[in-house]
Amino acid sequence: MIEWDDKYSVGISVIDEEHKEFINIINMAIVTKEHNDNPEEIREVLHKMVKYALTHFATEETYMIKFNFSGCQLHRNEHLDFADKAVANINKVINGDYQVANEILEYLKQWLLNHIQGTDRKYIDCFNENGLYNAGLNKDLQIFRFKSYPP
Ligand code: FEO
Repeated sequence: MIEWDDKYSVGISVIDEEHKEFINIINMAIVTKEHNDNPEEIREVLHKMVKYALTHFATEETYMIKFNFSGCQLHRNEHLDFADKAVANINKVINGDYQVANEILEYLKQWLLNHIQGTDRKYIDCFNENGLYNAGLNKDLQIFRFKSYPP
């Protein structure tokens, strides 16, 4: 299980709230796997996790584009790499390889924590300079959906 800690905060409430929800879903997946070997439930929670990840990535990328963040493409490449690997692994579960679920969860957990504490911190100055602090979501912002992500 992962517990939220201030060391994961990027100091921007809209992003922190999404990271907290991401952690909640990963914890839900860990509990599902530990206490229930029902393949359908495991598949469902993994699917939910990937769907949420894509929503969160779209939030960050929308701000990066809006604020002309110079590291946008590199950051986006990490998101795309995560999406590709997560979908490929989940397909293994869907195809009946349920033993791989533990491996997937560990991978997703480590990826998220490393990404939050490394790559995500790089946009903090840019977002802050453009007025995004702990004030919350800019309601005028349209969240893009990128066609290259899997559905
Ligand atoms: Fe918070 Fe770049 O994912």
